[in-house]
Amino acid sequence: MTNEQPHALRQPESVIRHLYFHIPFCPKLCPYCSFYVEVGGKNKNRAFLDALLREVDDAAAHHTLKPETIYFGGGTPTSLLTDQLDYLLGGLRERLDLSALREWTLEANPATVRAEKARLLRDIGVTRISLGVQSWDDELLLTLGRVHNSKQAENTYHILRDAGFPSVNLDLMFAVPGQTHAQWHTTLEKTIALAPDHISSYCLTYEEDTDYFRKLTGGTFRQDDERDAQLFETTMDTLAAAGFAQYEISNYARPGHESQHNRAYWFGADYLGFGPGAFSTIGNERWENVRDTAAYTQRVLTGESAGAFRETLTQTQRAGEIAAFRMRTAEGMSRTELAPWTAAMEELEKLGLLETSGENLRLTRRGRMLADSVGEALV
Ligand SMILES: C[S@@+](CC[C@H](N)C(=O)[O-])C[C@H]1O[C@@H](n2cnc3c(N)ncnc32)[C@H](O)[C@@H]1O
Ligand code: SF4
Repeated sequence: MTNEQPHALRQPESVIRHLYFHIPFCPKLCPYCSFYVEVGGKNKNRAFLDALLREVDDAAAHHTLKPETIYFGGGTPTSLLTDQLDYLLGGLRERLDLSALREWTLEANPATVRAEKARLLRDIGVTRISLGVQSWDDELLLTLGRVHNSKQAENTYHILRDAGFPSVNLDLMFAVPGQTHAQWHTTLEKTIALAPDHISSYCLTYEEDTDYFRKLTGGTFRQDDERDAQLFETTMDTLAAAGFAQYEISNYARPGHESQHNRAYWFGADYLGFGPGAFSTIGNERWENVRDTAAYTQRVLTGESAGAFRETLTQTQRAGEIAAFRMRTAEGMSRTELAPWTAAMEELEKLGLLETSGENLRLTRRGRMLADSVGEALV
């Protein structure tokens, strides 16, 4: 559970408790992915790492940074060499007050983790690894253009366990072109057998400007809503039976292993993002750093702001955004908090997408299948 208060009821915080670092490097670009990434990482010189540390120093001059959660995402943070991770994470340890830190997550691709790297990350204080497995089926991994096979992913999982991380998440994807029900069932069963602490199961989305999107619009790929709904139902049933609580539409955890960093986002906490393409939100102010690694590095190291895009959200926009996130969680929100959207919520309740649970309204099983419609009513 969280002690976050809904943002709409709070003033901007002077203490920032949630930090995100965007590491935009990947060993290979996946054809469905629209995150800001580039191939490589290993050859990046120290300047990029120094820019990240300098951005933290600059932020610390304006805010008190007392992180409860740190999240290294991407891209693929483990694309950096062990020495580079040592320099970067060690540099952070020197700069930050980590006395309140509860969770330090780092995303990993199975092709980029060796035992030495895993040990270093654990020794330096990382508590949680999120591993992009996607599927245990080698044929589907090829369809997804992944750089690793299932054997490598399994080896990497054991390396992480041997290194002693208290929490390991496995990312999976369903609704992949050509994926059968049997393939998905096998992937779920194999995942459960490995006993991770957390599973993120994402429905493939066709993001604009990706190869997958072009193949969809060009007719090479076809969406099959009925199959995808069945795959989602199988996910919910299979993971629930194995003891994983679906605490958010795409996220399942053993008790005590819910992602605290993501929960902070959903509850509207302030956060700072570092690195190219990273977003920050403080109060109703939101900005994004320039989506260009070279420009980002140059700007930060010459004392310029890395911010490229900035907007001020209205109170209504921010409250709607937080409500849309929170309604995707298992607990939902109280009717009082949902008062601005009473008419829309009553309509969704009549349609069987929402139900009462104590003081709260939350998604029904059918509502979880149509969660986007609920979100749209709130923003
Ligand atoms: C930044 S990646 C995780 C780490 C690493 N880059 C990797 O892919 O192994 C975050 C996750 O987002 C999910 N993802 C990426 N693109 C997606 C898409 N178009 N639809 C659904 N899920 C997606 C994948 O499950 C991926 O593991
Ligand atoms: S899915 Fe992960 S590995 Fe693939 S391009 Fe996106 S961030 Fe990189």
